[in-house]
This record gives sequence, structure tokens and C-alpha cells, in this order.
Amino acid sequence: MTIPTLNLNDGNQIPQLGYGVFKVPPADTERAVSEAFEVGYRHIDTAAIYGNEEGVGAAIAASGLARGDLFVTTKLWNDRHHDEEPRAAIRESLDKLGLDSVDLYLVHWPTPAKDDYVHAWEKMVELREAGLTRSIGVSNHLVPHLERIVAATGVVPAVNQIELHPAYQQREITEWAASNDVKIESWGPLGQGKYDLFGAEPVAAAAEAHGKTPAQAVLRWHLQKGFIVFPKSVRRERLEENLDVFDFELTSDEIAAIDAMDPGDGSGRVSAHPDEVN
Ligand SMILES: NC(=O)c1ccc[n+]([C@@H]2O[C@H](COP(=O)([O-])OP(=O)(O)OC[C@H]3O[C@@H](n4cnc5c(N)ncnc54)[C@H](OP(=O)(O)O)[C@@H]3O)[C@@H](O)[C@H]2O)c1
Repeated sequence: MTIPTLNLNDGNQIPQLGYGVFKVPPADTERAVSEAFEVGYRHIDTAAIYGNEEGVGAAIAASGLARGDLFVTTKLWNDRHHDEEPRAAIRESLDKLGLDSVDLYLVHWPTPAKDDYVHAWEKMVELREAGLTRSIGVSNHLVPHLERIVAATGVVPAVNQIELHPAYQQREITEWAASNDVKIESWGPLGQGKYDLFGAEPVAAAAEAHGKTPAQAVLRWHLQKGFIVFPKSVRRERLEENLDVFDFELTSDEIAAIDAMDPGDGSGRVSAHPDEVN
């Protein structure tokens, strides 16, 4: 089974499907990531704030996999945007991960009330130039944040990682991203289990038509929309299920029916709004 890759705007490539480890308990992370590698995942999405970078690093070290076969993302936390803190923060993350560089480093939230995300982005550019990360991107950035960091630096982020699933499709951001060659990473791709995506008729119907589970139908929707996904599970059978999405294709009608699931008023959002996180 080959996981497709997408081309980033800096010439690097990213596996379109990976494994996200938000809320994987630190003590369980080495086991979970090792199982993910066994099942076939090669792209891991973690963050300093998840507290489990050491577990990811232990699984990488134990895996015997070549560094070039892995794609590792981590993120700069909100209290480290200022001064030279981004460089100190990535060095700490690399130490925990046991790596010389990550594949992708993200500004986790813009924290607009603090108004230091432009400085953070300038520092991210330096980290890439220093070889501490191959690609740089952002997370939870709204269009005004994106426009401001690009205007200040001339550097367009490779990705924007945002809450995105059928009930909350973030069309303003995805349209901006498509016009500016920024890849979208969907976090909470399964609605974090907080929104009944699986019981929704368009999802259930698509799953049944293809002999797949509702989770697989939702993941397939993300992939066919061109989004990058890294569903989280601590259960091996779900790790396998979430990876087993490359042997079927949703029809354009099925995609359109799932597209129509977003109520359009923001009520499908299941987690924090970027303006509220500071
Ligand atoms: N940048 C950000 O601010 C941000 C925020 C949130 C998340 N993220 C990233 O995005 C990744 C994915 O998002 P997420 O973890 O928040 O949510 P998610 O992947 O949408 O949902 C995870 C939940 O769904 C369950 N689940 C997983 N596979 C399933 C399946 N096949 N069938 C039924 N239930 C299933 C999991 O339970 P079990 O574990 O019990 O299986 C867990 O409760 C994170 O791990 C993290 O890497 C980033």
C-alpha cells in the first residue's frame, strides 16, 4: 500500500495521510507510534504542547526506519513566539524527538491578542534557513493572519493546519489556500468524536455503497478534496481502518452530498476558535 504524497510550495513532499498524536498519553505514545509504523504510517503529527514528543522520538529510534522515509511535524507553542524563543523551542523539540531536523514546523496558533505572530513567522523563516526544519507552516491562521505574515516576509507558509471536517469546511480559508499554493491540513478530521459525522446520511450512504466504514468515507472525502489528514486513534484496529482508504473512490455525487453537510453558520465547529486562543 502506497500513501500518496502532495507537493508543497517549497519543493518538498508530504505524505497525504499520517498519524496525529494529540491526546495520546505520553506513557502510551511509544507503543502507539510503534504500532502506527508497523501498520504502515510514516507521517507523524505532534506538538510541543502535547507533551509526547519523547514518546514519538523513542518510537522513531526503535523503528529502524530510515530518516528519509519518515515525515515528522511538530509545533511552536503560544508562549514562545517572542524574541529568540522559537529557536530555543525547536531545539528542545528536536532533542526530545532525537532528530537533527523536523520535516515541518508550525506556528501552533496565531494568538492575535498578543500580536506577536508576525515576529514568530519571521523566526520560522530563520529556522528553515538554519536547517532545523525542512518546511515551515502555520496552524489555526485565519485569512487576515495569513495575509499579514506573507506581506511582512514574502514567505508563504507551506501548510495551514486548521479544524476541518464535513460539518465545518472553512471555505474562506481553503479558497485562499488554493489561490496561494498553501496546502490545507485538516485537524479533527473525524470531528474529534464530538460531532455525529458518522450517523449523517451522506456519510452513512457513501460508506455503505463502498462497503467501508463511515470513518473511512469521511477520510476519503478529505483526501479527494486535496486535504492532508492525520486521524488520531490509540487502537490498532482503528489505525488499520484509517489507513485502509486507498482502494475506493467516492463519486462526485457522494462528494457533493458530503460538501452540503456544513450548516454554513459555524455551528459545526467542535473546538476553539483562533481568536479565542491567546
Ligand atoms: N493544530 C491544532 O490546533 C490541532 C488541534 C487538534 C488536533 N490536531 C492534530 O490533528 C490530529 C487529529 O485530530 P484529533 O485527534 O483532534 O481528532 P480526530 O482524529 O478527528 O478524532 C479522534 C477521535 O476519533 C476516534 N477515532 C479515531 N479513528 C476512529 C474510527 N476509525 N472510528 C471511530 N472513531 C475513531 C478516536 O478515538 P480512539 O483514540 O479511542 O480510537 C478519537 O476519540 C491530532 O491528533 C493532532 O495531531 C491539531
